[in-house]
Amino acid sequence: MKELEIKSGGRVISKIFAGAGISEVVDCFEGTETVYIVCDRKVESLAGSIASSINASGINHSGTLHVAGIMPVEVSEDLKTMETVLRINDRLLEMNADRNSFLLAVGGGITTDMAGFAASIYKRGIRFAFVPTTLLAQVDAAIGGKNGVNFHSYKNMLGVIRQPEFTYLSPQPLETLSMRDFISGEAELLKTFIIENNLESDNYVSAVRVFSAIHESSDISESIRTHSAKLQELIFAAASVKAGIVSRDQYEKGERRKLNLGHTFAHAVEWMAHSGLSEQDISHGEAVAIGIIQAAKLSEKAGLAEQGLAAGLEEDFKKCGLPVDLPFPLDSLAGAMAKDKKAEGGKIHFILIKCIGSVMIYDLAVEDAVRILDRK
Ligand SMILES: NC(=O)c1ccc[n+]([C@@H]2O[C@H](COP(=O)([O-])OP(=O)(O)OC[C@H]3O[C@@H](n4cnc5c(N)ncnc54)[C@H](O)[C@@H]3O)[C@@H](O)[C@H]2O)c1
Repeated sequence: MKELEIKSGGRVISKIFAGAGISEVVDCFEGTETVYIVCDRKVESLAGSIASSINASGINHSGTLHVAGIMPVEVSEDLKTMETVLRINDRLLEMNADRNSFLLAVGGGITTDMAGFAASIYKRGIRFAFVPTTLLAQVDAAIGGKNGVNFHSYKNMLGVIRQPEFTYLSPQPLETLSMRDFISGEAELLKTFIIENNLESDNYVSAVRVFSAIHESSDISESIRTHSAKLQELIFAAASVKAGIVSRDQYEKGERRKLNLGHTFAHAVEWMAHSGLSEQDISHGEAVAIGIIQAAKLSEKAGLAEQGLAAGLEEDFKKCGLPVDLPFPLDSLAGAMAKDKKAEGGKIHFILIKCIGSVMIYDLAVEDAVRILDRK
């Protein structure tokens, strides 16, 4: 099993493990634990298998383990709310979970975001860990300790930064993802390598190659199995990039902002899509892909990137099955962008791309960004 530590101030704040099968998660626990599982209802049987392996082993290398309860939750952006978080807390209370209990979340980013938040407030905070089951959650949502919910149609408006004890990455759960949910995760993985690319292995180019092959296949499960070794390598590489950035800037005072590449546009697109202003159903990853293309166009027009960057990215994204076009006129997004929770003093920390593997933080008022983007 591969292992990676996230450190802050010289202290290990979280660990990332990567193994082949789901049952190996048993080896990630340290010490005696009473575990409660929160899972996305769609992966309830996977959560059941995890519980069975934990209870069958009864003991791992360092203590006794026991799963005391499984709580399946329905998952959607509309249900990513304080009410669901409180329901998880209700269930923990009903099952007599105490302050030493351990919450394990099994699911995509919506499940891990909500479960991490629920664990952070239950009895002033119990320990928790994640088994992310989507590509998006494996490379992004389940790493770095941001946990939260949507509020009044705004994305992730309420939440905390609190680290999971560990995140366990396995390619096994990815095999049941729909093509659309897989593609949604591609955007965050490509984003990571646009921010930081290892030139020797050129992870960005490798990722585009693997994703194009998966997108072209008629059997996604079979294709994920075929490319499983390369996928595992890319997922671990992306997780390592994020872990490094979080280690250097856990509370997003500087460098961590780079991980928001494309997100100011993406959150505005999601807000428009989910607040009844459109019939369009847009996933987070799809919105991020669209947002990255806008960020690339802004970078070119602001003179920070060479001409052709946005067109090149568009071509790559399309090959991977990702959307690239804004579904709403730019002007209509401006209001939603201005409400970005990361806005400070009327300006937003836009993340602009110098070239693949290098981005920079650029503070701009929304109206200035829109004006630059409108330039011919
Ligand atoms: N905390 C962070 O740092 C962070 C970073 C990025 C994104 N996010 C959040 O993550 C969320 C998006 O994550 P996501 O795309 O994983 O969303 P998700 O949890 O909604 O999962 C996507 C879909 O896949 C289904 N699913 C999950 N695992 C499956 C599996 N193994 N097989 C089949 N279906 C499965 C889910 O039921 C859902 O329908 C957003 O709410 C976003 O705000 C958080």
